Amino acid sequence: MKKSLLALLLMAFCLNVSAQIKPMNEYIDSLMAKMTFQEKIGQLNLLPANDATTGISANSPLMENLKKGQLGAILNMRGADQIRQTQEIAVNQTRMGIPLIFGLDVIHGYETIFPVPLAMACSWDLASIERGARIAATEASADGINWTYSPMVDIALDARWGRIVEGAGEDPFLGSKIAAAYVRGYQGNLAKNNEILACIKHFGLYGAAEAGRDYNTVDMSRIRMYNQYLPPYKAAVEAGAGSVMSSFNVVDGVPATANHWLLSDLLRQQWGFNGFVVTDYGSIYEMNEHGIGDLQTSAVQALKAGTDMDMCTEAYTGTLEKSLKEGHITMADIDKACRRVLEAKYKLGLFTDPYKYCDNSRRANEIYTSANKQAARDMAAESFVLLKNQDNILPLKKNGTIALIGPLADTHYLTGSWACAPVFEKYSTLKEAMSRALDGKAKLLYAQGCNVVSDAKLQEAGSLGRPIDRVDDKQAGKEALKIARKADVIICAMGEEGEMSGESSSRADLELFDVQKALLAELVKTGKPVILLNFSGRPTVLNWESKNVQAIMNVWFGGSEAADAICDVIFGDKVPCGKLTVSMPQTTGQEPLYYNHLPTGRPVSEGIDVYKKFKSNYLDVRNDPLYPFGFGLSYTTFSYGNMTLSSNSMNAVPASEGGITAKVTVTNTGNYDGYEVVQMYIHDIYASISRPVKELKGFQRIFLKKGESKEVTFQITPDLLKFYNQSLDYVLEPGDFEVMIGPDSSDQHLQKAKFSVNN
Ligand code: BGC
Repeated sequence: MKKSLLALLLMAFCLNVSAQIKPMNEYIDSLMAKMTFQEKIGQLNLLPANDATTGISANSPLMENLKKGQLGAILNMRGADQIRQTQEIAVNQTRMGIPLIFGLDVIHGYETIFPVPLAMACSWDLASIERGARIAATEASADGINWTYSPMVDIALDARWGRIVEGAGEDPFLGSKIAAAYVRGYQGNLAKNNEILACIKHFGLYGAAEAGRDYNTVDMSRIRMYNQYLPPYKAAVEAGAGSVMSSFNVVDGVPATANHWLLSDLLRQQWGFNGFVVTDYGSIYEMNEHGIGDLQTSAVQALKAGTDMDMCTEAYTGTLEKSLKEGHITMADIDKACRRVLEAKYKLGLFTDPYKYCDNSRRANEIYTSANKQAARDMAAESFVLLKNQDNILPLKKNGTIALIGPLADTHYLTGSWACAPVFEKYSTLKEAMSRALDGKAKLLYAQGCNVVSDAKLQEAGSLGRPIDRVDDKQAGKEALKIARKADVIICAMGEEGEMSGESSSRADLELFDVQKALLAELVKTGKPVILLNFSGRPTVLNWESKNVQAIMNVWFGGSEAADAICDVIFGDKVPCGKLTVSMPQTTGQEPLYYNHLPTGRPVSEGIDVYKKFKSNYLDVRNDPLYPFGFGLSYTTFSYGNMTLSSNSMNAVPASEGGITAKVTVTNTGNYDGYEVVQMYIHDIYASISRPVKELKGFQRIFLKKGESKEVTFQITPDLLKFYNQSLDYVLEPGDFEVMIGPDSSDQHLQKAKFSVNN
């Protein structure tokens, strides 16, 4: 009885709350009718707090701007109480009382940190990626955040570029699916207080920085953009992302932030994006460096191009009034941008309840919970890619003596770039997790063995103030060899420091660092089996290692629960199932390296070991990657039956006809239950433009018990075969195609069949 009364009261309350607010357009019309010009440009201003833990100082420019009604949003402030206090100022002490948006780079989790995005992509597990984003949104919003600068959906083909770690890798098809999964996970319906606004970044083409050097020039044909680089952004827009961040780079020579074609014609008109565009950090200021003009000119161009919010340059608040007076912009330009920002606030429900995300009671029950930790641990285990497992040395039995060696073996910093609310002391080191996992059943010996890299300055630069201890390489090496000789097996935890990938972390050499490689060679010489755990935020060159160590598992940066997850897999509680979403090169000089390249007029087939004169190849290395896109081993084995097609031809119209069904039976032929990612690639053999040698067009992640078989079906629809032609029309061109199915993208593992599309 009491309960139903309560329910009624609650319903009445909810109805009342929603009844208070008019439909969006009406509401914003009436709001904007009362706003001054200054208040409108204030909404376009985003400033950093940078004091998430220590509290805001009353005299900071942030506060001055806020009290003057010159602030629309804040980034880098955390804590429900602090955010509530700040929101109260916006609501109670400014003339219009418009609430603020609070943004943060919640990139792969919050306090519960998931693996770096590149690693998560290697799970190919869309449902878990979506769940990870959901958990990240829940934790962040429990701490006051209502806007995340994620997902980063930039296609990246060059492993020298440190920010390859933030995206899903090199493939537009998979990248699009993952982009949409993140958006769904973060935003839901934006109804509840744990659903937050996503921000697609970095629009666009940021991942194509020349020579893999961050912030460098991008130059690309429209055909390539449309077919290869734009699809993930578009998919995230279609999934309903509420905001987009413009990138630092130029697109067609014009900085993205001021690129009308990019932000207005393509994004809004062609794709129908109806959210708001924010700049990247300081982008308007950087237009000066790009040689476009001073701050005033840049602000005008950015606003006119369709950039609504200025991150951290105060260019809009500082110059737009002058530009209006001088006739460079119109009131309509300002109104457009202001309306878009207000719409986002409306959609977030902030006009109904400015404190929707300021519930400080949530923190205790919703952040770093055991369920969240378990989800992160499961995801980490799914993201590891087993690259080599000679004589099935893995999984290890819990007996004998294990030597754990390497600079990454006893550090808490396994979270990687963009750990946004880390509490490192809560996270286990691998050594700690391993001794827990072994529980005395095997003897664990440990030595750091060496530094991350002999160059102390380089190590420091790659640590962001979270350095791994420096040691004397010679002395540490000796200790490592001493314990190695006593052990039955050696586990090496080596690779990069967590911040050696990510923003401003490009590398020109992708090999394992000098001192680590030298130590590894010494350890191999002991004759003991060596297992290499490679920690990295990008593909590493592992050529020597692939020939000389028994097993290699790429463990990336697995987040807060990485250490336990590694033990889960090493000791066989979980079976590895990750597959690369980036090609692993044999040598750095092959970069940019990607499987879905165009054919050349002088091609060399995959797997050809010899140099061929007057063909498109190198004198000193094969064209092939060391480990291809889609590749990853399991503890079990899978066999593929013959692929069958329901027909060898289909009609181009009607497109709704459904196309051809490709089938293959996959059997788990090994000794473990496990997941397999079955991949389908398509090659358009003849077309009006040169088309990639193969493109991923379908995948299925299936679970097979040992001995079990499953028939896997792919539908090749006419839609799947479309591409952007020279006029940038999205077309299906009748003709001959090839379909390929297999466990990875390498020709030697793919079954192939031809089919044609009739007019
Ligand atoms: C990065 C963005 C990030 C922004 C805000 C920039 O430097 O490029 O990815 O969202 O800072 O922190």
